Amino acid sequence: MKGIILAGGSATRLYPVTLAVSKQMLPVYDKPMIYYPLSTLMMAGIREVLIISTPIHLPAFQSLLGTGEDLGMKFEYKVQDKPVGLADAFRLGADFIGEDNVALILGDNMIYGSRIERVLRAASKLKEGGIIFGYKVADPTSYGVVEIDKDGTAISIEEKPENPKSNLAVPGIYFYDNNVIKIANEIKPSDRGELEITDVNKAYMEKGNLKVIPLGNGYAWFDTGSPDRLSDAADFVKAIELRQGVQIACLEEYAYRNKWISKEKILEHAEKYRKTEYGKYLKRIAEEEENLYDNIFESKLFQ
Ligand code: G1P
Repeated sequence: MKGIILAGGSATRLYPVTLAVSKQMLPVYDKPMIYYPLSTLMMAGIREVLIISTPIHLPAFQSLLGTGEDLGMKFEYKVQDKPVGLADAFRLGADFIGEDNVALILGDNMIYGSRIERVLRAASKLKEGGIIFGYKVADPTSYGVVEIDKDGTAISIEEKPENPKSNLAVPGIYFYDNNVIKIANEIKPSDRGELEITDVNKAYMEKGNLKVIPLGNGYAWFDTGSPDRLSDAADFVKAIELRQGVQIACLEEYAYRNKWISKEKILEHAEKYRKTEYGKYLKRIAEEEENLYDNIFESKLFQ
């Protein structure tokens, strides 16, 4: 499975902060925002990633993330000239996707939870159809909203409804089979003039091919589109990292755990970041790996 991070848009809700800087480049506590969705794809085991951004901002992502080689990954980049909607990612990414299945994650979405890695790994094994998630929120009106029946089958999905039929918002991470390219080419712009991801999901739903996984208690999902939400996400990351002495969205950690980079390489990264907690954490991972890999113990437990 391949991955796409959509990091475009004009982020007008964060003006003036985003007048000259890409939203997805802003810090969420101690890391650039894009580290969080990138680490999510890495958790899913996705090694080839296309990063899409505006003509102005794309070079900054290229300079931040490079070819991906340092992480044992492969990154490609693509310009999106106009923010014409999320589903445009599959049109722009058609060559990159090729014959594969694909996961799309929005560059401003963060998901966290102790079991999330298992959930993402399972989703990345998808054979056909689409997989999306549902996350209970108090006010879902600014999101895609999905309604499910008792068996978890999607019965309706709407984009930013005024009167939501459920309180399950759809987070910005989606797994699809290769048909998504065709579907994205067939959908028409919505009333707000965008190629809606919700219309892609609707097309899968209408064929009975859309699975919705509700993320229950114990998961945190943030989108960082407004100053309050951005600051909430940063507070969350700070609280966990300081309390537990860990790093969330540590790219080198996932690369190492996925066996995409060696111990020598992670120590090289640790040296580069030695003046930071991030660097110290990388060093610890290389040296005390057995103490830090709780998730591995846990996954063994559930085999
Ligand atoms: C987009 C999608 C919406 C989804 C949300 C998640 O909204 O259109 O369905 O729930 O991302 O962050 P937007 O960020 O464009 O408002």
